[in-house]
Amino acid sequence: MKLSSFGQKLGTDAGINSLMDDLGEAMAGGGDVVMMGGGNPGHLPAVTDRLQEIAQELVNDPEQFRRLTGVYDPPQGEKQFIASLVELLNREYDWGLTPENVALTNGSQSAFFMLFNMLAGHHPDGSNRHILLPLAPEYIGYGDAGLTPDLFKAVRPEIDELGDNLFKYRVDFSQLEITEDTAAICVSRPTNPTGNVLTDEEMLRLEQLAIEHDIPLIVDGAYGTPFPDLMYTQASPRWTPQHILCLSLSKLGIPAARTGIVIANREIIRALSGVNAIMNLATGSFGAMLAEPLVRSGEIISMSRELVQPVYRQKMEKAVAAFREAMGDDCPWRIHTPEGAMFLWLWFPDLPITSLALYQRLKARGVLVVSGHYFFPGLPDEDWPHRHQCLRVTYSQDEADVARGLKAIAEEVKAAWKEG
Ligand SMILES: Cc1ncc(COP(=O)(O)O)c(C=O)c1O
Repeated sequence: MKLSSFGQKLGTDAGINSLMDDLGEAMAGGGDVVMMGGGNPGHLPAVTDRLQEIAQELVNDPEQFRRLTGVYDPPQGEKQFIASLVELLNREYDWGLTPENVALTNGSQSAFFMLFNMLAGHHPDGSNRHILLPLAPEYIGYGDAGLTPDLFKAVRPEIDELGDNLFKYRVDFSQLEITEDTAAICVSRPTNPTGNVLTDEEMLRLEQLAIEHDIPLIVDGAYGTPFPDLMYTQASPRWTPQHILCLSLSKLGIPAARTGIVIANREIIRALSGVNAIMNLATGSFGAMLAEPLVRSGEIISMSRELVQPVYRQKMEKAVAAFREAMGDDCPWRIHTPEGAMFLWLWFPDLPITSLALYQRLKARGVLVVSGHYFFPGLPDEDWPHRHQCLRVTYSQDEADVARGLKAIAEEVKAAWKEG
């Protein structure tokens, strides 16, 4: 078999594939594995029960069941859900949306694939445009989503030491270079892998740059406001026609329903719907129909604020406390201030081994994390030791397991220091 460049790039070489294979293999090995590697949401019985109730109603009503299973939605997505979402967002935030501002996709991952390649890459005028990631580290899932090489350009952050073993990445605006070849700016907020939440001021400065250069500002809100609202710091949600806001139902607890939501100006939504029609014909209706009653009533917002967010906040606080206790002060360590999402980003300055070697030692002990070096898509391979000194740890799963895993990390780090 001879694979095309597309087949080779996405089918064999993609970093995310080898990472997923590795995690999958370790899990399949059975035994006592502590899974702190993936992005799976935790299991929240109150949310699951409510969704199950709605699913029962859909299945028991013949007309609803026919809509659920027997019709292709338009390429833009399930109409009822879109109408209810537009009403909800206008009521909450006064964004002035119409249904032409919203499209649904099979998970937000596929929305990013379509948007990045719609906006960046080869253009008919001969230019070759890129997506600017103003703050690396960034989401690993963007890295392989480009059909053309060098689709991303990322920028090193400023590192703000906050004391008490905490630090925060900030956008280094002095290093941001927007050229004629910059197609869009993209940030995840909260950020996977770091749990960073870019400040309102940083977001407004990025928006201003986007306006000045007439390019979109893509904001990945997979963990953000208004749902699932995994935010532990104050941050204002914002949308203007300059923004492409990408939301998802996954982290609320239904990743299997594969429902992504894109909110953008009409021109972008029209083009995205066209690409979606070619790739998928239609977006699956299941997630949209399951969540529509929650969106219509606004329950999706109260559920996120009152049920989902407090659970993750508590998990985060317990994980931080467990890691502090496990590390003590025998060797240097930092945690990125955990402001959102479901990850701790651990930094071990001057660690004698790389984060990949640390990952392997932990895997051998049955503790699965992700080596931080994967999370720098678009950053040139320059000499910056920091990118080999970090780990991403997911704290969404069982708390006792997470504490056990964090203890193992502390032990391995201390052992590595001892060995020098
Ligand atoms: C930052 C971020 N964006 C997007 C996604 C994609 O999520 P989904 O395709 O399930 O909507 C993820 C998944 O983990 C993520 O972490």
